[in-house]
Amino acid sequence: MSEKRIGFATRLGAIAASVGSAVGLGNIWRFPYQAGQNGGGAYILVYLLCVLLLGLPIMMSEFIIGRSTHKNMRGAVEQLTPKSPFKVFAYVGVLGALLICGYYSVVCGWVLEYVVDSGEGLLLGHTPEQYSEIFNSLVGAPQRCVLWTLIFLALNFVILNKGINKGIERMANVMMPLLFVLLIVFCVNSLMLPNSSKGLDFLFSIDFNGLGWKGVVDAMGQAFMSLSLGVTCLITYSSYFSDDNHLMKDAVTISSLDTLVAILAGIVIFPAVFSFGMEPNAGPKLIFEILPTIFQQMPGGVVWAVLFFVLLFFASITSTISLSEIPITFLIDEYKLSRGKAIAITAVLMTVVAVLSALSFSTLSDVIIAGRNIFDFLDFVGPNFFMLLGGLVTAVYVGWFLDKKVVHDQLTNGGKHSARFTHPYIIFCLRFIAPVAIIMIFLYYVGII
Ligand code: PHE
Repeated sequence: MSEKRIGFATRLGAIAASVGSAVGLGNIWRFPYQAGQNGGGAYILVYLLCVLLLGLPIMMSEFIIGRSTHKNMRGAVEQLTPKSPFKVFAYVGVLGALLICGYYSVVCGWVLEYVVDSGEGLLLGHTPEQYSEIFNSLVGAPQRCVLWTLIFLALNFVILNKGINKGIERMANVMMPLLFVLLIVFCVNSLMLPNSSKGLDFLFSIDFNGLGWKGVVDAMGQAFMSLSLGVTCLITYSSYFSDDNHLMKDAVTISSLDTLVAILAGIVIFPAVFSFGMEPNAGPKLIFEILPTIFQQMPGGVVWAVLFFVLLFFASITSTISLSEIPITFLIDEYKLSRGKAIAITAVLMTVVAVLSALSFSTLSDVIIAGRNIFDFLDFVGPNFFMLLGGLVTAVYVGWFLDKKVVHDQLTNGGKHSARFTHPYIIFCLRFIAPVAIIMIFLYYVGII
């Protein structure tokens, strides 16, 4: 029996919250720098294919598990397929969420500091090299990094403490539309820069020379990261969906908006990069070093800079909220804790990971795991291991083990809509394409292909 719980009040709210989860640093920070490092247009093409063949079907598989039971992954699997060993993966999801949110909130801390610094006009009047120094000195300053990360996490948990409706849903309803408006304003601005067409060429002309297998694998990991897949985030959110939500339409809306934001972010960044003669492959520091250089050359630069980092803050906090909700809902469901207690435990655990990652570039820079510092290691294992493994598990579970009737019922809302095309498409992708693709990525990592 699925217990009735308070869910998202409206369908729009549920979509806004899920878009909020999907749209984040993954789109605005990670996607542009990955596209920059992997040759631009060709990477984007592969990325779109990944969304279509892996992202959308796996998103649906999570929705089906969560919405059919209104429970977290462990409870859901227990209800849908009693005694199935798949429920173990709920723990993998919870652990993945803690680790990802840990390093992610460090970047959010940098974003907060940039909001304040740009507001105070500190990010004006420097050369590109000086912006690079400013960024490196922030990242290398242990107290500042830890402090901003903690402030960010505090805001995150204050919102979560207000609950699903009054906290998560309300905030997404306000922040998501604002984010879109801001992003479009920035796009227009960027397109008006001299030489902006070079940036668009880089972004949209398809040249496979810059791609290689690494680019393909990065694109798959990025699709998982960007759509919030594999760590049971969307199982958790959809457990709060109403039984009337049209899951397929919602999944198409969420993944289209998410992809749109990533591409718009590219349109904001690359024309500017080329217009000011900078390198597109600067890596993770791309937006922190390049964008301030650009803002200061625009009339009203302070305002633009503040708005941009506020936009980034909106995008990122709606994502960390969804990541934090995974362990919170898990603890409430499985251990019958109050929301307050579940939040407190999650906050402590996340803070530990976040502080360790915040120190990765300074005090703990000597701690190297698999050739990377703590932060880079988490940025690697989060998307490339936890999310992919979780994606593989949900795909195999829904594709091969879950009763077809449950899948059909969820796709059609108990026979109300048709799923003549969507059902075979999803099942085919879940059964064959996703497992083969994900296993190939794992083989690539261990050096077999
Ligand atoms: N999708 C988010 C982003 O693009 C990150 C995220 C991953 C959020 C997993 C929730 C779960 O930034």
